[in-house]
Amino acid sequence: MKKTITLLALALFAHGVAAAEPPHWAYPVVVEKPIAPGADETGAVQIPGASRSYTYAQIDDLMNPPDWFPDSHAPAPNVVKSGAGKTVLACGACHLMSGMGHPESSPLAGLSADYILRQLADFKSGARKDPTRMNGIAKDLTDEDAKQAAAWFAALKPIAWTKVVEADSVPKSFIGKGRMRFVSPEGGNEAIGSRIIELPQDPLNAARRDPRSGFTAFVPTGSIATGEKFVKSGGGKTMPCNVCHGLNLKGLGDAPSISGLSPLYLFRQLHSVLTGARSGASAALMQPVVAKLNEDDMIAIAAYLGSLAP
Ligand code: HEC
Ligand code: HEC
Repeated sequence: MKKTITLLALALFAHGVAAAEPPHWAYPVVVEKPIAPGADETGAVQIPGASRSYTYAQIDDLMNPPDWFPDSHAPAPNVVKSGAGKTVLACGACHLMSGMGHPESSPLAGLSADYILRQLADFKSGARKDPTRMNGIAKDLTDEDAKQAAAWFAALKPIAWTKVVEADSVPKSFIGKGRMRFVSPEGGNEAIGSRIIELPQDPLNAARRDPRSGFTAFVPTGSIATGEKFVKSGGGKTMPCNVCHGLNLKGLGDAPSISGLSPLYLFRQLHSVLTGARSGASAALMQPVVAKLNEDDMIAIAAYLGSLAP
């Protein structure tokens, strides 16, 4: 009996800790000595299909990031290309000049301008938390720059960017430069456990902010089918997503498209609504959706949504 109580207390304690501390695999933190494949090269480098070349110093200039294929998008507003003032970093550095972003940031291509502006307002007020990046950027962003950036990203077409693969075992990996996760140079595999491991398909090009070099998201075996059940019927723990996100999940009214996004990003949003890190007035509609979900449920939902066409 005593043993049962101790175990129960331990289980409760463990659950409490998990709820207070977001899972580190989904919220990558800055590492002390970040490494990126190829970053020790000193001269100018290229990516496949591009005629431009940039040095690594230019590639990682968050105030003037590379625009590898300038003909593939409409002329970008200054704030997207080169930021504003000292604190508003260029949107194109993290979200890329394709708007598809990296798993550690977010895809913006094709979201409605209204939705983008609402998120910027929530980052500014602190209702949505991303203290190391978006909170500071949104705080110092002018309304005019926000409007121009929102309209530009809204007009971009989202592309198939993340391949979702079920696996029991994944390559060992680490968080490197720009908080991107890369395959460990030592090699070897490890159990996936209750995680989504999203890795660049071509680490060298992804680290060069190549807008055509996508990602593979490894998800636990069986999660896509489990996620489909939650998304389509609610699975007894949540509600069907299409009620608000539209029949094909590509967005309706205030609810954005959730089809074909990065599973790591999707998981983070569900988890952030649950913990209150994302608590704007519109995000409140998501609160009952996530209230009964555990991390495995959210992984499954993110896996299924990520496997759909964008
Ligand atoms: C230094 C990197 C960085 C820069 C520069 C940056 N962002 Fe972000 N942005 C992020 C990260 C990281 C997130 C995801 C936060 C999260 O997981 O909730 C994000 C999320 C967003 C979102 C929410 C997307 C959604 O689907 O809800 C919007 C909108 C956004 N950024 C707009 C911008 C705009 C506009 C700019 C330029 C003024 C900009 N960002 C510059 C890192 C950046
Ligand atoms: C009652 C309406 C409603 C239902 C049902 C609903 N959502 Fe939402 N969802 C919203 C709204 C509104 C937003 C935009 C919140 C904001 O502006 O911050 C949203 C935002 C999201 C986001 C963030 C997207 C991004 O780009 O950051 C995700 C992920 C999401 N919903 C997933 C789901 C899933 C999965 C389901 C079903 C299990 C679901 N939603 C059901 C209304 C709903």
